[in-house]
Order: sequence, then structure tokens, then C-alpha cells
Amino acid sequence: SASFSIFPKEHPKKLMTCNEWDGLPKLPVPPLQQTLDMYLKCMGHLIPEEQFKKTKVVVEKFGAPGGMGEFLQKKLLERSEHTANWVYDYWLEDMYLSNRLALPVNSSPVMVFPKQNFRSQSDSLRFAAHLISGILEYKSLIDGRALPVDYARGQLAGTPLCMDQYNKVFTSYRLPGPKMDTLVAQKSTVMPEREHIIVACKNQFFVLDVVINFRRLNEKDLYTQLERIKKMSDIEEERLPPIGLLTSDGRTQWAEARSVLIKDSTNRDSLDMIERCLCLVCLDEPSGTEQTDTNRALLMLHGGGTDKNGGNRWYDKPMQFVIGADGCCGVVCEHSPFEGIVLVQCTEYLLRYMRGSPSKLVRAASMSELPAPRRLRWKCSPDIQTFLMASADKLQRLVKNLDMNVSKFTGYGKEFIKKQKMSPDAYVQVALQLTFYRCHGRLVPTYESASIRRFQEGRVDNIRSSTPEALAFVKAMGNSSKITVCSLKIELLWTAIKAQTNYTILAITGMAIDNHLLGLREIAKELKLEKPELFSDTTYATSIHFILSTSQVPTIEEMFCCYGPVVPNGYGACYNPQMDHIIFCVSSFRDSAETSSDLFVKTLEGCLKEMQDLCIKCNTEAKPADSTKRMDGTTKVMKNGSKA
Ligand code: COA
Repeated sequence: SASFSIFPKEHPKKLMTCNEWDGLPKLPVPPLQQTLDMYLKCMGHLIPEEQFKKTKVVVEKFGAPGGMGEFLQKKLLERSEHTANWVYDYWLEDMYLSNRLALPVNSSPVMVFPKQNFRSQSDSLRFAAHLISGILEYKSLIDGRALPVDYARGQLAGTPLCMDQYNKVFTSYRLPGPKMDTLVAQKSTVMPEREHIIVACKNQFFVLDVVINFRRLNEKDLYTQLERIKKMSDIEEERLPPIGLLTSDGRTQWAEARSVLIKDSTNRDSLDMIERCLCLVCLDEPSGTEQTDTNRALLMLHGGGTDKNGGNRWYDKPMQFVIGADGCCGVVCEHSPFEGIVLVQCTEYLLRYMRGSPSKLVRAASMSELPAPRRLRWKCSPDIQTFLMASADKLQRLVKNLDMNVSKFTGYGKEFIKKQKMSPDAYVQVALQLTFYRCHGRLVPTYESASIRRFQEGRVDNIRSSTPEALAFVKAMGNSSKITVCSLKIELLWTAIKAQTNYTILAITGMAIDNHLLGLREIAKELKLEKPELFSDTTYATSIHFILSTSQVPTIEEMFCCYGPVVPNGYGACYNPQMDHIIFCVSSFRDSAETSSDLFVKTLEGCLKEMQDLCIKCNTEAKPADSTKRMDGTTKVMKNGSKA
């Protein structure tokens, strides 16, 4: 039978904690001087000379023997002894919880599925029921600690990765706060409570119990319940205001609205149901726009605004599965509990599940007697109406402002780059630097997320891709080919790729500078010390204003990840390298006169072609002679960790 108990009494839910089962090492605290030297090296070529001279003095003072740096370093080392991961809380607050910006576009990444061909409403509901079955299956794997452990791929492949993030996929909730949000995690209980999903449909929220009397609903039951929800959402007289819009507002505004909302007990009950659900399933209305990759990405990022599906969301919940009646489907993800890579693993499981286990609807028996799904009620005071209007207005501005370009570069992919004996990721990063330079005539502090899941409770650190070596290369490429000879250009490309690869290795082994500097800054604050000058210096502010925010999110299944820029005058650039093509998702804001996603992508395509020409013409090292020795000096490490 498709119905069975997922939590038998003799097998209580047990959470995986990575330190418990895999003995991963703790994240190291890098040596102080190494970080300070690296900081200067990363910033020297990105700021005016005079400013750099001043910063150098500040940094030297901070790092002087017996100085503030040494003291804070000692405190950080102590902290690392009594925590599983010394940077985790600092990082979570800095990266997400204290950020006051609205979650859609600014923070929440999305996965965009290939367009689905639904011929009728029942097609989309069938898809939803099938997907929910997969979700429940996946959740039982997490709860039963039965997910296979992830292993590092690419650089330094073969080591196991911390699995802790998976525990948070269906159990967390980002509660808005006036100054800072809280990431609430439901702790496991021996006796599980009722499990439910919230289904959003026409801006209404419905409770769909997925476990009734200790039995998990089968696909047929789920379909029946979804059909009922759809019918309930059609009753115009019962429609309530689109409260979900409040969650798309700035975090402080939403916190304020929520504090008014919870004064009423009906609202409190409704909020409680949403906060404790496994995830949302958003049954979206057709958007009326052409289903291009770019348009589907936009719809996933902000729902298309108040006149489309903008209110059919609840952004605080980590997983929102969107199923559009027009076939526009994907996942919206609240980023604070886990990284895009975990999101990919989960969604790929679901897509494979749906392909591998054909829908059981046709053969299913007649419907069992199930209690009707429940509509969540809201009492909307005039104050709440005012908040709602403001939130709607804010979302509309965000929708108008987002400039997105999703593009498949088909010139070549990872295979060509590997044949050049170069790291594909480093190559793409250098191409992004060249593109930025071509568009803006300078380089800027750049963020590339690097996974530190090799360590207990590891999340990410930053690879600062705008290296001095990248600058030398992009400058040489700016010159007409007559002036800079091909051999010099390829040498500079090699040097830039080597620098990028070395920084990557530094970052994934816990030796990058961003987390370390953050730790030093935050521990000073915690100890109520005066803010060290290093952190009030303008160079520091510049260094963390990431005009270019990049991330590699590769997928096996056909889908792509994208997100918005992290600063008003910046770009978000997410890429998905495949063997023979690369998907780029570039975002920026129309408000900014400096940026243009279309121009960026067009320039990027040109840069990638030029780099290919350069490699074909001049990369004498691209022979397939010794396939283990690479030109960047590293040796290929096999997946089991042994050297090739
Ligand atoms: N010559 C030939 N092949 C090379 C090479 C070289 N010099 N250098 C690397 N390669 C190969 C690798 O062996 C790997 O092979 P595989 O496809 O068989 O696995 C492949 O090229 C890719 O390696 P590379 O491009 O160097 O990158 P990577 O996969 O190690 O990725 C990061 C680098 C930084 C992206 C990765 O370590 C990481 O941290 N990923 C997570 C990012 C993240 O968290 N994103 C989500 C944020 S929300």
C-alpha cells in the first residue's frame, strides 16, 4: 500500500548532527598575519593608492605584536574550542538574520524547473500530488538518517561533507524581528506532532494534513485534497486578504506587521500553522507571460507582483514549491538554513522520484474518508490593511526594478576548459572578471561562495575572485592584440587561473579571510570593546560591498538556480556549468544607471569566445599528454581521496 507510517514508535525521529556521526574536523581559525596580508593583497588594486597607504597603516597597527589583533585572535581560538564551529552564529547573523532587506530577490534563491506541459487543471494537481509524495519520501529519508553522505567533488575531491544542513530543510522557520530575525528550528520529538503542508492558492492558505492517524496520505488522497483546496479557493465570498504579501516586505516592516497581527487569536493560530508546516506548495495562477527561461526565473524570484502570484507566497518558510497552472514550476528557498547545493540535492531527488516512480493515481483505489483541508483565517484590522498596502507597493517596486537575463552559452562547456588543463570554475570566474572590466573599466570586490562543509557545521566562505592577477589579465585583454602578444596574454590567463584556483583551495580548506575578519570584528563587539579601526576604515566597507556576487550551482537534472544582486549597484551571477554549455543567470537592478544584465551577458559571451580563441591559438599546454598533471601545479585527486 502507498500509505504507511513514516514514524513507527520504535524508531523515533533522530536528527543527524555531523559531529556525531562522521567525525569531521572543526573549522580552523587561520593565522592572523596570513589573513591580514591576504586582505591587503585582495584590496590593494581595487582602491585608490592614497587610501591603500592609510589602510596599510591601520592593518599593521591591528596586527602589531601585543596589539588588538593578537588579543582578538586568542579569543577566537578559545571560542573555537568550545563551539562546533566558531563562525557559524556570527556568519548566520551577518549574512542573513540581521539583513533587513526583503527576502524575495534580495536573499531567497530559486530553482527553476523546465517548463511543464499541463493540459488541464488536473494535470497540474496530479503533478503537485506526485511532488508532495516525493517530498514526504525525502523527508522520511532525512528523518531516518538514511540520506547518503555527500562527498566533495572538484578541487580536493573525496572528503565527506557535513550533512547538518539537510536537517533544516523541512524544520526551520525564519521569524522576523525588529532588529534581527531568528532562525527557529523545530527540535525532534519522540512523539511526532501532526504533519502538514501549507497549500497556497489564490493568495489563500490551506492546511493539508499529510499524516492522519499516523498514516501518510497516498498520492490519490493528496490529489483529492488538492482538488478540494482548489474548489475552496474559488469561492469568492470566502476570500481573505493576501496576507502572504507581508512576508515579502522588508524584515523590520514585516516584524512590525506581525506584532500587530498576533494580537488576534485567529491570526495567532494561522501563523502557528504556517510556522510549523513542512513546506509550502504554491498553486499559482497562469502568469500570462511568455514562458522563456528569463520570465520563469523572474516569476520564481518575485511571483510577478501583486497582480500575478506575488501574494501566493510565505517567504519565511525555507521551501516553497511553486506549481503554476501554466507550467511555470520551481522552488523558492529561504536561504538562511542551508546552501543552494542542498537545495539542488533535494530538488533533484524529487524530479528523479517523479520520473522513476510513475504516478499511482490511475490505479489508486477510491478515495478514503478524509477530513476536509482547512482554510487559514485572518482578522485584518485597518492597521493590517495599511501594512498590506505598503507591502504590496514595495513588492511592485521590486518587480519593476529587477533586471534579469538567463542565457545558455553554447559555445563550449566544462569539457573544453578541462582540456586546457584549467579548472572550469576558475576559468568562469576569470571570464566574469574580464566581463566586468569590459563593462565598467575597473574591477570590484567580488564574492564567490565556497563550501566549507568539509568542517563541522560548515556553511560557506568567500573566494575573492577579483585578484591582482585577474586585473593584470583583463588589462592585457583590453589592449589591442597587436600590442599584447598572444603568448603574454595566455601567460597572464594562466597566472590568473592559478591565483583563482589557489584561493579556492584556501577557501575550501577554511583558510579564506572573510569569515576570519568577521569573527575578529564580532568577537570584539561581543567583548564590548571599541570597534577596531580596521573595521571602521572605508576600505573594509568597500571590501564587503560585493558589486559582483557569484556562485556556481551545478545541476544534473535540467533546471537552473538564480538569485538577485546583493547591493543596489551590483550583479548577481549564478552559473551552471555543463559539459558542452554553461547556463548563466545574471541579475541587476534597473534603478542603477551603472548596470545592465543584457549588456553584461552579451559582453560575457564575447569574453568567453575570446578566451577560447586565445586558448586554441596559444595554449600549448592543452595537449592530452599527462592527464593527471595539471598546469596549475595541482594533482588530480580521485573521488576516494587518493592521488591519481
Ligand atoms: N585540469 C583539468 N581538470 C580540472 C582542473 C585542471 N586544472 N581543475 C579542476 N578540474 C576538474 C575537476 O577535477 C572537476 O572534475 P569533475 O567534473 O570530474 O568533478 C571539475 O574540473 C570541476 O572542478 P573546478 O571547476 O575546479 O571546480 P569545483 O567543482 O571544485 O568547484 C567551487 C569550485 C568553489 C565552486 C566548489 O568548491 C564549491 O565550493 N562549491 C559550492 C558552491 C556553493 O556553495 N554554491 C551555492 C551557494 S548558495
